[in-house]
Amino acid sequence: MPRTLDPELRRALAARIRYYNELGIYDFYRQPLSDCTEAVLISVDEDEIIVSTNIVSTSSVSTNQPESGEQMSPRKSAAVAVPVVVEENIFEAIALKPEQSVSDPVKALRIIREDLGDCMRCVLHKQGRKQIVFGVGNPTAELMFVGEGPGADEDAQGEPFVGRAGQLLNNMIKAMGIEREQVYIANIVKCRPPGNRTPERDECATCSPFLMRQIAVVKPKVIVALGAVAAKTLLAMSASMMQLRGRFYDFRPAGIRSNDPDWDGCKLAVTYHPAFLLRDPRQKGEAWKDLQMVMKELGMKAPAKGAE
Ligand code: URA
Repeated sequence: MPRTLDPELRRALAARIRYYNELGIYDFYRQPLSDCTEAVLISVDEDEIIVSTNIVSTSSVSTNQPESGEQMSPRKSAAVAVPVVVEENIFEAIALKPEQSVSDPVKALRIIREDLGDCMRCVLHKQGRKQIVFGVGNPTAELMFVGEGPGADEDAQGEPFVGRAGQLLNNMIKAMGIEREQVYIANIVKCRPPGNRTPERDECATCSPFLMRQIAVVKPKVIVALGAVAAKTLLAMSASMMQLRGRFYDFRPAGIRSNDPDWDGCKLAVTYHPAFLLRDPRQKGEAWKDLQMVMKELGMKAPAKGAE
């Protein structure tokens, strides 16, 4: 049940957040305490800060299912197939982001990039990254693809999905009857994890608020999460690829509201990561089904043939 914060506390929090904003600080992070049994979501409605408690269980459903090799790094305790902890982040939920007062999406994205700066918020900054890979594409795209994190080619070129997996993603986009330039492409983490390892949970949690802000600026109609890391981070839930694929989710970027009252989130679909499809091309047909579902949602005409 939603409960309202004590007015004194609300005023004190609002004052503190304004103070930080005046100093140019908009992002606040809090480490997860543990696997909780309760998730607390905080939002602002008009002047009120609303605290609502969400379902969460950390009990016992195992995720030991065949996953075709697409898994995030294992959690310390058993994971579940229900929404898991959305970390309490009161500051992030109520702080207005600087780009929200800007209507031009190109400028708004630039503001987010500047805010990111020469980011040193997680360990990836000192583990060999050459540059931050922010995101690329149409700033008003109807369709957005979100991958895991840059690899060596992306790290070298500063653009997501430009290596072998990127070539396949380009083919997938072409097969949908559109060009790469028409979509927006980004990753959960913006720095290359060393040796292309899977980004850690805390790295995803630290970096993804910037992606959420990018999403709120681009305001896509559909997001395609490429692989388990993207899907689980965006949906804040733990489940197998088998469970995650084949349906749409209603998605709103966590901790941020769009400045457009007509954009109240979008649909999100999950498909296999192109790097996984390169390792197991037999799954391309399944990925194509996912993309066809997306095309139908966007009213796109399906060409006869899928991605090669
Ligand atoms: N894999 C990803 O997840 N993202 C990239 O940008 C490249 C490869």
